Amino acid sequence: MSLKSTIHSAFEKHFGGDGIFYASAGRINLIGEHTDYNGGFVFPGAIDKVIMAEIRPNGTDKVRLYSIGFDEEVTFGLNEEDAPSQQWARYVFGVCRETIKRGFVVKGFDAVFDGNVPLGAGLSSSAALESCFAFALNDLFNNNTIEKFELAKIGQSTEHNYCGVNCGIMDQFASVFGKKDHLIRLDCRSLEYEYFPIVLNGYKLVLVDSVVKHELVDSPYNKRRESCERVAKRLGLETLRDATMEMLDAAKSDISAEDYSRAKFVIEEKERVLDVCDALGRGDIETVGKMMYATHNGLSKDYEVSCEELDYLNDIARECGVTGSRIMGGGFGGCTINLVSDEVYPKFIETVTAKFAEKYGHAPKIYDVVVSDGARRIEE
Ligand code: GLA
Repeated sequence: MSLKSTIHSAFEKHFGGDGIFYASAGRINLIGEHTDYNGGFVFPGAIDKVIMAEIRPNGTDKVRLYSIGFDEEVTFGLNEEDAPSQQWARYVFGVCRETIKRGFVVKGFDAVFDGNVPLGAGLSSSAALESCFAFALNDLFNNNTIEKFELAKIGQSTEHNYCGVNCGIMDQFASVFGKKDHLIRLDCRSLEYEYFPIVLNGYKLVLVDSVVKHELVDSPYNKRRESCERVAKRLGLETLRDATMEMLDAAKSDISAEDYSRAKFVIEEKERVLDVCDALGRGDIETVGKMMYATHNGLSKDYEVSCEELDYLNDIARECGVTGSRIMGGGFGGCTINLVSDEVYPKFIETVTAKFAEKYGHAPKIYDVVVSDGARRIEE
């Protein structure tokens, strides 16, 4: 059964009749990791894996929400004190609240949602969920008067205020702005963006999902962000966007060794994004690949968001002659993104599957990336 039919059967069963369908996508990021909250550049795109919802206003002031994945129905009101206890429902509650806080309209509705964005794989299933509902509430209750950037910010504020993650704007931006066959370079300070057609003649982008998620108790993502903010403050800057290695080295004695490494990674990474965009424009895929390995190295050694399994995937990619490979997303588990030539592809898939399974007792999951559209209403 298709995702849409599965959702519709559940909708009929729980609420009866028909609603309107909306979807939004997970994302990849070719390069530019942990740069978004530092005012730097990112280079993401939406993928063909989505969260989809069927929604219908119900004429009350309550939301009735059924998640197929969690097999649970939750009802909540739209005031701040009505926050549900289930984490999955807080994403939707947060989107409602952030929309209302911005002066827009949200009324009660019934909704069923499900998706095929793998959870915990670093593909931003949560941004897909937020963007799907932000887009839907704009269409259903606000005549599409909320601007697209504001929809992305509604999702981002949901993470900050209802889910405890001080994320940047990349995931929600990619999920809302995604366009088939295009990556998007976003300047996270000015919010200027540019679509780049993704032409990879003779190469594929492949995700290798370690299927491990290291749940680290003390919110390491937020800690990385705090390190960057401390260094920026010490350098007298708003963000690390304008920091250089010279400035960092001049202040080295006042900065902890750990904060120094974090900032070094960010300074190097923001340059790599621009280099990759240039290289892609010239069709210089080898350079794109080299930069990806450099990012992995920095994320592993300086930013310390890798783990044994991801480093192993990276090593295997290198041994197989994969052109570029690196951790993708926040880190601490999830996927590597790999730029693989057509010749190397079969051998790489076979080797990475066998070696990883031998060492960790389970095979990684492999996804070929299809760069697709972002948030939308589904008419057909
Ligand atoms: C997560 C966050 C993003 C971004 C990435 C790392 O996906 O949600 O904002 O910071 O990590 O690049």
